[in-house]
Amino acid sequence: MDLVIRGATVYDGSGGPARVCDVGVSAQRIAAVGDLVGERAALSVDAAGLALAPGFIDVHSHDDFAVFLTPEMDFKVGQGVTTDVVGNCGLGAAPFGSARAYLAFFGADRREESLPVWDDYVGYLDAVDADPPSLNVAVLVGHGTSRLDAMGNDRRGPTDGELARMADTLATGLDAGCVGFSTGLIYEPGRYANTEELIALARVMAGTGGLYATHMRDEGIGLLDAVAEAISIGEQGGVPVQISHHKASSRAAWGLVGESLALIEAARARGTDVTADQYPYTAGSTSLFAVVQNAEEGTSGVGDTDWNAIVIASAPGHPEWEGHSIADLAARLERTPQDAARMVVDVEGYGAVVIIHSMDEADVRTVMAHPTTMIGSDGIPTLAGKPHPRLYGTFAKVLGYYTRDEHVLSLDQAVHRMTGMPAAKFGLADRGIIKEGAWADLVLFDPTAIDDIATYESPRRHPSGIRRVWVNGTAVMHEGHHTGERPGRALRRRVG
Ligand code: ZN
Ligand code: CU
Repeated sequence: MDLVIRGATVYDGSGGPARVCDVGVSAQRIAAVGDLVGERAALSVDAAGLALAPGFIDVHSHDDFAVFLTPEMDFKVGQGVTTDVVGNCGLGAAPFGSARAYLAFFGADRREESLPVWDDYVGYLDAVDADPPSLNVAVLVGHGTSRLDAMGNDRRGPTDGELARMADTLATGLDAGCVGFSTGLIYEPGRYANTEELIALARVMAGTGGLYATHMRDEGIGLLDAVAEAISIGEQGGVPVQISHHKASSRAAWGLVGESLALIEAARARGTDVTADQYPYTAGSTSLFAVVQNAEEGTSGVGDTDWNAIVIASAPGHPEWEGHSIADLAARLERTPQDAARMVVDVEGYGAVVIIHSMDEADVRTVMAHPTTMIGSDGIPTLAGKPHPRLYGTFAKVLGYYTRDEHVLSLDQAVHRMTGMPAAKFGLADRGIIKEGAWADLVLFDPTAIDDIATYESPRRHPSGIRRVWVNGTAVMHEGHHTGERPGRALRRRVG
């Protein structure tokens, strides 16, 4: 054996109870689980008192470019994440020409020369394999990107030819091994798509196993209609549904998650596969452009606009604005908040990213406790500024604060929501589980010490309590230090 981890309390990802045993790794896979006393190994790790779990799967990431720009992906592997699902919220990696529109959002527009060039999703997946990051990458086809490619930012429905072009991008992606299709219906150009357009595209996936993941049209007072739309797209398209970052945003919408969860339960009772993901914070984060557009056009997709609660996370041209609320900035500039926000967008474009304090802690717990909820960071990997701490802390915060301290979940359930459950939903074969033959994506952590320590003020901090992380059998984190290894690969879904 290459490696034997001895005496850990093993949470195998299935959600069942943990057991103390040994886990052996050979040739990138888990070779044995049980009593391995006397088994010889190149490396033996004494894990008594520690928890061993499958590596965490971040089902909601925006690391499409980050895997090339920061291939060690320390902010993810540092919290035990071994697989990222990229392409969320309609922001896909291909076609490349359209995907470039998002570079500024990720603070990466000045780093474009360090990206490889790809054309379609075949090329993107191949580029990941050619120059792999430290973690595995599964890919969603982004609706926004394909719509931009087919018809620009036009505020109308597609012609038959434009719809066919979007369908073609999606079909090519699915053939290449993408795991589904994502929308971002508060963002340009996704917000101009009606339900029929999305059903037509969902139908392209029917029978492939690919899922429909959606940043819904409204997470404020219109939450329930938005959930109903997502479910109907899944039902009429014949595909599973993943509701992204399930939440109720802004005070007027607080408490609606009870009813949105009931809608999900009702759909499941009808036989529709609907699940959701969540990041464990009461603040969201997005592009200021989207917030300003919602305010100017009177749409409630991001919830009511409270400029006191909207804080600039990243403004690459004006770092002095970072950490200030829009209301604060407006007062200093002697403008109305909306004017100040518009001014920031005009000078920073998509580079202006904000943190929005908009959720109720009780709602966060209600959603987390529900068995349909997985964990996804929604981290925005801006190279500049102070990103939302979810980028560094999501998984540790669920395991430490919400599980150990607050008992919102049991530890076996929490691990399941980060591993076996997403692996099944996203079709990641032999991942998210500790069993003989599975890929050796593993995280060894101290359940008594795991804590997120990334804060809004100081977000770029790795969690405590993560002891070791392996991706495909190779160590990427060792006692708080990145090993420099990059054993990740592109994960391709097998159709059928
Ligand atoms: Zn989103
Ligand atoms: Cu997102």
